[in-house]
Amino acid sequence: MIIAANLKTNFTRKETNSYIAELDTYVKNNAISQEVLVFPAMSSLDENNTSIVVGAQNAYPTKDGAFTGEIGTTHLDEFGIKTILIGHSERRHILGETQEALVEKFNYYKELGFKIVYCVGEPLEKREAGEAEMMEYISTQYEGIDTNYENLIIAYEPVWAIGTGLTPTLEDIASIHKELKKKSPAPLLYGGSVKVTNAKEVLAIENVDGILVGSAALYAEHFCSMIGFAEELC
Ligand code: PGA
Repeated sequence: MIIAANLKTNFTRKETNSYIAELDTYVKNNAISQEVLVFPAMSSLDENNTSIVVGAQNAYPTKDGAFTGEIGTTHLDEFGIKTILIGHSERRHILGETQEALVEKFNYYKELGFKIVYCVGEPLEKREAGEAEMMEYISTQYEGIDTNYENLIIAYEPVWAIGTGLTPTLEDIASIHKELKKKSPAPLLYGGSVKVTNAKEVLAIENVDGILVGSAALYAEHFCSMIGFAEELC
């Protein structure tokens, strides 16, 4: 399974390093064989010699150049980073990234062989519009994406469940994952208010290959417990 932490705009570099060190100790002490990914804030990226895979929450599709406020592969290469999160709902809806821009980013990082965690998910009004409209909306987020890319991981994250404490029912997650599995053979993570209290049951759902955790992952101890649940289930 794949257990991923999206640290968003939290933790300094020093805090991130000690967080990663704590996870690394847990993984080693418990002989964990699951894949653990951490996406730190951009300025908290650093050398990483641990068992934890560190990825970028974002980068521009460029090596370098004139893209104020962005980083490129020069900056990722400095730390040997080969994993990137693309299409997170906060980038789609708060930062205004379009599907077109995401496809360009996807293709650029695919060409370079990056592991890509690509996020999809519907806002509340689409969920309330019924199953057909919701699935149609999610389908548009697959447009232009090579769903057979070998280093692809997809994360299904309903926008209304992110950071809100709300989650779909386990049955809903199961049925959406079943549908999404038809679109791509890539591992499919669930994300959106996963906590230490519900992670075990979410991970146990068929067609859930892991979790992408935001707020609850900020507690290293909680996140380690989630890694432990995944290990137990495998
Ligand atoms: P959350 O965030 O766990 O705080 O809901 C998940 C995410 O945004 O990936």
